[in-house]
Amino acid sequence: MNPEAIIYDKTITVEAPATVANLVCGFDILGMALNGPFDIMQMSLSHEPGIRISHTDGYDLPSDPAQNVAGAALLDLLQALGLPVGIDLSITKQIKPGSGLGSSAASSAGAVVAANHLLGNPFSKEDLVRFAMAGEKVASGVKHADNITPCILGGVTLIRSIFPLDIVQLSAPPMYITVVHPQIEVRTSDARQILRKEVLLKDAIKQWGNIAGLVAGFLQNNYGLISRSLEDVIIEPVRSMLIPGFDEVKSRSKEAGALGGGISGSGPSIFMLSEHATTADAIALIMQDIYHGLGIDYKTYVTTLNTQGVRICK
Ligand code: HSE
Repeated sequence: MNPEAIIYDKTITVEAPATVANLVCGFDILGMALNGPFDIMQMSLSHEPGIRISHTDGYDLPSDPAQNVAGAALLDLLQALGLPVGIDLSITKQIKPGSGLGSSAASSAGAVVAANHLLGNPFSKEDLVRFAMAGEKVASGVKHADNITPCILGGVTLIRSIFPLDIVQLSAPPMYITVVHPQIEVRTSDARQILRKEVLLKDAIKQWGNIAGLVAGFLQNNYGLISRSLEDVIIEPVRSMLIPGFDEVKSRSKEAGALGGGISGSGPSIFMLSEHATTADAIALIMQDIYHGLGIDYKTYVTTLNTQGVRICK
């Protein structure tokens, strides 16, 4: 670590993208980054030690660093750095907390990428994933990296192992992603609590086939294989009960030509992958129609795969 490389008293802005974790069959191991929505964060370093966090959004998120997902990640980073650097961070969240779109991951990933940049890049991307996992622990009680990793690295990522961390970046063909976020809250901790702790061997075999098929489909740019592999026989049957309209969104999106999709992270957002922009747009209309009919407020997004991850703007 070269203390001379530290940039003090300059404010940078970063954009931290939303992510879709699990990608249907890959619970806790697969994820992808989206080109929208994203959080905007501003950071500067100072000689006055401590982490000072402010929010310019309407969410009532804690500013105490130990209770804040970005703060917890930065505490781990500063501990590894071992120098008395102060951090001022302002967060404008555009990814709603509790949406299933990796809101907490965006905060912690954006914070550690910004800090690493201002510190002269002493840490590797893997180190940054490790620090950011401390934020996920604050958010959901467990360290998982399937949102953080694509948020930091971009694209589609596989966490082969979390302890020790073993990350695989996967290439993928161009895809359009349609997301509907019904405006109900599903807490990740609750959505994890309701899962069965044991799995039948026949279900595990099906799931392994689908995960391997999905990874191969991404690597081979094989849309047919991706489509056939977007099936989850373990988590989705349990969690989808928390999301009104889920079955209808899925069936009507597939009728309209979606490759497939499912719950984004722990929900309530639902995502669908498409090969063509026109299909992705048509699916957004279907989603709007369904939630309008149910009388539930919603937001829809039509976006593409973000291959860059957290972006340092200036
Ligand atoms: N893999 C995690 C879960 C993601 O599904 O619980 C939570 O955002």
